[in-house]
Amino acid sequence: MRHGNDQRPAPTRVVVTGAAGFIGSHLVEALLTNGNTVVGVDRRAPDSDPATTARLSRALKHPRFSLVTADLRTCPLTALFRHSHAVFHLAALPGVRGSWGEQFGEYTSCNVFATERVLSACEEARVPRLVYASSSSVYGSSAGATHETTAPHPESPYAVSKLAGEQLCLAHADQAASTLTAVVLRFFTVYGPRQRPDMLIGRALTAALGGPELTLYGDGGNSRDFTYVGDIVRAAVAAATRPVGTSVLNVGAGVSTSVAEVLSTVEELTGHAVPVTRLPAQAGDVDTTLADRSRAAELLGWAPRTTLRQGISRQLAHLTADSLRL
Ligand code: NAD
Ligand code: UGA
Repeated sequence: MRHGNDQRPAPTRVVVTGAAGFIGSHLVEALLTNGNTVVGVDRRAPDSDPATTARLSRALKHPRFSLVTADLRTCPLTALFRHSHAVFHLAALPGVRGSWGEQFGEYTSCNVFATERVLSACEEARVPRLVYASSSSVYGSSAGATHETTAPHPESPYAVSKLAGEQLCLAHADQAASTLTAVVLRFFTVYGPRQRPDMLIGRALTAALGGPELTLYGDGGNSRDFTYVGDIVRAAVAAATRPVGTSVLNVGAGVSTSVAEVLSTVEELTGHAVPVTRLPAQAGDVDTTLADRSRAAELLGWAPRTTLRQGISRQLAHLTADSLRL
């Protein structure tokens, strides 16, 4: 990876788990643009559904990209990781609201057990750096901005699984014999083109454009530190290239916006009302998230570049282009 201020030689081979997902597919493209050889791993095959095919279409045409379709809970990983300069571990079950009850078995195995396998394989393959996609949900709800020193207070099984994943990263990297540096990034509600279909902004845009009505959970008063996917990807690349030690870093835009305000912006940008069906607030959804991003600024030289309005416009442009192609 090449980075403006990084004096070390540019690494070449990197691995991205969760490469067929929303954030993973953007990260893969950025790494390819930066000159890396990228090995993606995902249990979703590229032709498993039209959205996955579309997410991977650019990367799959690239000569320096290869995709391994495999489940991280069972597949051999050490040989796959050998000679890699970094592993970006993004694969997980990501939804907050669906993580209760029966589903938690799948969450624990994909988010905790698979993370342990990834870490052990990194050590066996002597990968120097792991970048772990953690989540703002580890904080729970906050009255003000959360700093990395704020005590975690996970409020959903998903959040518990992500905090467990973080702790595994730190436990591995802290072993006296370990040569692994783990950089844990706490992403705050990510949006942009190719967003997961369960998330607010994509659903609101689709509803405004004549798709299914948006199911609004609660009264629209929840607020999130919505962070554009391109900004998230720049932080992830910096986390693999900057000379930082094992650390935990917030990656959030630093602005908290209510769901009601998001819907107004979507209505302004599309010129259409967002039709909604109301449901009560959902278990596990916190009231507010807001990142203190000073540590990422200091250690990664990272700052967001995309305002919420710009980012929603890009997501809208992408959705509109997609529907014209159909
Ligand atoms: P996504 O669902 O689009 O991508 C995750 C990918 O991981 C999927 O393609 C899935 O098939 C793969 N995967 C899951 N379990 C696997 C397994 N056992 N073996 C192989 N592949 C497996 O989700 P996303 O929104 O791109 O999130 C990526 C990461 O970022 C996740 O770790 C998530 O917890 C974290 N995160 C996301 C957000 C957000 O707002 N999207 C915010 C905070 C943290
Ligand atoms: C997002 C991601 O989905 C998680 O993977 C991630 O871990 C988390 O951010 C994080 O920051 O750590 P969430 O904040 O719930 O989770 O993001 P959205 O699904 O976009 O929801 C934002 C708000 O909109 C929530 O208050 C939610 O209740 C509401 N919402 C969402 C609706 O009212 N209706 C919907 O259909 C979807």
